[in-house]
Amino acid sequence: MLLKLGVNIDHVATVREARYRGRTEGEPDPVEAALVCEAAGAYGITAHLREDRRHIQDRDVTELRRRIKTRLNLEMGNAPEIVGFALKTKPDIVCLVPERREEVTTEGGLDAAGQLTSLSETCKRMNNAGIEVSLFIAPDPAQVEASARIGAQFIELHTGAYAEQFHRKRERQVELERLISAAKQAYQLGVKVNAGHGLNCENVPLLHIVPHLVELNIGHSIVSRALFIGLEAAVKEMLKAMEGYQG
Ligand code: PXP
Repeated sequence: MLLKLGVNIDHVATVREARYRGRTEGEPDPVEAALVCEAAGAYGITAHLREDRRHIQDRDVTELRRRIKTRLNLEMGNAPEIVGFALKTKPDIVCLVPERREEVTTEGGLDAAGQLTSLSETCKRMNNAGIEVSLFIAPDPAQVEASARIGAQFIELHTGAYAEQFHRKRERQVELERLISAAKQAYQLGVKVNAGHGLNCENVPLLHIVPHLVELNIGHSIVSRALFIGLEAAVKEMLKAMEGYQG
């Protein structure tokens, strides 16, 4: 089973905004970066349009939609303005993420169980527009269950705690087991499973023991590595770490 890579290009825009904030152009261009990632074998491109527009700008998403050939995954908070933008821009999939503190569980994922009504509403509007929905949640049974009730096609399991505990063997095992059981639960409920946050070439190989994974969304480590070996090589290096996934 092929484990797919979605490359998050937010931090290419972070570097641009560090110098060109408020301007309509500047380098490095996240769209050009996305095209390099696609050519290197990425399955899709992920960008997070934040309410404060700290990195990705509206025009980036519009241009990504126009120019990339693979899948566009728009990460976004469930806020009316951004929902309107997504419905107009039509990414292939949106991944709903917490944007404000009250939307976050203690583990940092979206509190799907606490926002059943508003998330169901957004999910329905997206699906009616032909856009799939993913919910970025902690590997917590209540959140997986809520995601299925909301009608999301995917969950994205938050791997931040796993990444953080990676160098502590016992704690890491606990986090892996939570990811494994959340993935199994989602699969049984008919929800497809992605994962992401804090992943790098060192911690991805061990993640292969988590079943039912479709796609990993990875940004920071690839963009960081690109500074030293180039973006194309950084994407290929990650694809290599993902090879051999058994599902
Ligand atoms: N998935 C989601 C939902 C995210 O919010 C992020 C961070 O923007 C990522 C994946 C990628 O995380 P990282 O940049 O640590 O690889």
